[in-house]
Amino acid sequence: MSRHPGWPARLGPLRAAGGVVTVRSVRLRDAAAWSRLRVRDRAHLEPWEPTGEAPWDMRHHVSVWPGLYRSLRSEAHKGMMLPMAIELDGRFCGQLTVGNVVRGALRSAWIGYWVEKEVNGLGVATAAVALGLDHCFGPVGLHRVEATVRPENEASRAVLRNVGFREEGLLKRYLDVQGRFRDHLLVAMTVEEVPGTVSDRLVRAGRATWS
Ligand code: ACO
Repeated sequence: MSRHPGWPARLGPLRAAGGVVTVRSVRLRDAAAWSRLRVRDRAHLEPWEPTGEAPWDMRHHVSVWPGLYRSLRSEAHKGMMLPMAIELDGRFCGQLTVGNVVRGALRSAWIGYWVEKEVNGLGVATAAVALGLDHCFGPVGLHRVEATVRPENEASRAVLRNVGFREEGLLKRYLDVQGRFRDHLLVAMTVEEVPGTVSDRLVRAGRATWS
C-alpha cells in the first residue's frame, strides 16, 4: 500500500475565468511542457523562487526533468511530498507542490505553486490552490497547511487571500531568492477554518464554478 494516502491523485475539475482547471500528479512526459514554460517565463518566475546553483536555462533544460521527476516521485512515495501539475483545459500550465509533509501530532505541510505568465489573472492558481487544500485536509489527512510569500509578490498574496489563508507573521531574511536572503510572510490555515471545502467557498464567492 502507498504510504501516502493522497498520491497519486487527480483533483477537480473547477472552472475558472481562464477555463477548466485540474491538478494531477506530475508525469515523466511533462518534460517538454515544463522546460518550455520554465525557460520562456524566467523573468516572471525567478524573482519569487529559491536561488539555484546552476544557471536558469541549464536547470530547466528538458533533460533535467527525468531526474527531477524521479526524485519528486520518490519523495511522494515516502509520503513527504505531493508533486502535482496544474492543467488548464487539459494542458500543462504550472505546478502545485505540497512539501515537508509531517505526520504525528503536527500533521502539517507547506504549499507552493507557479502558473505560466500567458494565463495569469484568470483564476487558475486560485482554483488550483483551493483544490490542493481540499485534498490536503481531505484524503491526505493534514491539520495545517502553511505557505511563505515575499511581501512584494502581490499576485501570490492575492491567491493566498482568495482561498482564505491567514497571515501569521514576517519571517526575517527567510529564504535566498535571487542571491539575497529575503523576508517572507508566513500564512497558514487549519482544517477548523474550513467549514465545508475551500472549493465550495470559491464557488460561493463567484470565483469558480463546478465544471
Ligand atoms: N498587484 C496586485 N494584484 C495582482 C497583481 C499585482 N501586480 N497581479 C495579479 N494580481 C492579482 C489578480 O488580480 C488576482 O487577484 P483577484 O483574483 O483577487 O482578482 C490574483 O493576483 C491572481 O489570481 P489568479 O488569477 O488565481 O492567479 P494566477 O493564475 O495569475 O497565478 C501566480 C498567480 C501563481 C502568483 C503567478 O503569477 C506566478 O506563477 N507567479 C510567479 C511565481 C510565483 O510567484 N509563485 C508563488 C510563489 S509564493 C508561494 O508559492 C506560496
